[in-house]
Amino acid sequence: AHVWRGLVEEYRDRLPVTEDTPVVTLGEGGTPLVPARHLSELVRGRVLLKVEGCNPTGSFKDRGMTMAMTKAKENGAEVVICASTGNTSASAAAYATAAGIRSVVLVPDGKIAMGKLSQAVAHGATILQVDGNFDDCLNQARKLAEAYPVELVNSVNPFRIEGQKTGAFEVVDVLGDAPDIHALPVGNAGNITAYWKGYTEYAADGVAKKTPKMWGFQAAGAAPIVKGHPVDEPETVATAIRIGHPASWTGATTARDDSGGRIDAVSDEQILAAHRWLSSREGVFVEPASAAGVAGLLAAAEAGEVEAGQTIVITVTGHGLKDPQWAIDLAGEAAQPTRVQPDAVTIARAIGLDV
Ligand code: F0G
Repeated sequence: AHVWRGLVEEYRDRLPVTEDTPVVTLGEGGTPLVPARHLSELVRGRVLLKVEGCNPTGSFKDRGMTMAMTKAKENGAEVVICASTGNTSASAAAYATAAGIRSVVLVPDGKIAMGKLSQAVAHGATILQVDGNFDDCLNQARKLAEAYPVELVNSVNPFRIEGQKTGAFEVVDVLGDAPDIHALPVGNAGNITAYWKGYTEYAADGVAKKTPKMWGFQAAGAAPIVKGHPVDEPETVATAIRIGHPASWTGATTARDDSGGRIDAVSDEQILAAHRWLSSREGVFVEPASAAGVAGLLAAAEAGEVEAGQTIVITVTGHGLKDPQWAIDLAGEAAQPTRVQPDAVTIARAIGLDV
């Protein structure tokens, strides 16, 4: 059987590494493409979820981070820095530990999910909570990296995009060609930029016969690309994509325009409904932001904008355990377990069996 060696080794010939590059890996990539039975039925097509929560730190960020940390190590960096709504910091902290490099993370004021913060803490990152939002954090991280000997590992680092483009390679390698549509959430816009790079590289080399339409979805309260101007006070329950000045703005619009795709907004209600759809119907537990792509597909289906018979891949970007409070809150009363005595008949009754 083939043992997965992490995406830098698996896609070595398509990544900027040499034989001497010290690869920093935690076994990321090779994530499953899970059939979504109910979504497929709804759109009368084939919908598959690229479940990025299966990466080592529970989000797609590990794809970019293995590459960025590998290059940081190769270049002799001693400190890496990033701004983050949580997942990037968790990933940076883990990969920096694996590389023997110190990590510093700038997180926005009080808006990061506990699961993500716990990872950065556990991996020993130096965590600074900035009095501001993600965009303020990224501004400062960029300044630090310009003025001091610290390596920036946000997706403005081109090696991050290189690593993340492998998500598209994996989809094509499994399906035999690109899907008709690839949907995903958009925050800082690195991931949509990276997928598009991956798909166009494979198409240029004839590995894929076509490229998909790229469908990106922002949260309505944090939808600068949809509005066509930056948003200074972004707000959404999907804290991972609470971003008003996306760094890879032109990467995202290029992906949209060159692919014949779209970037639209979905409301918090639509995001939470999609989150619930995924957990209660498909069996896939994601964090709220990760459901934005599904929310977008549901909205498009309702508007009659999804042709039947298409293959649609949706990247669900992060694991539900990152931000589990939402599942409890959305369940309301149902989150309270029914108390029972340790007695089979009582339990049988409690679950509605005839006794
Ligand atoms: N989904 C999740 C779970 C994320 O954490 C992010 C970004 C996105 C989607 C959006 O991806 O920025 O490439 O458009 N999280 C960053 C972070 C900002 O700091 O963890 P994007």
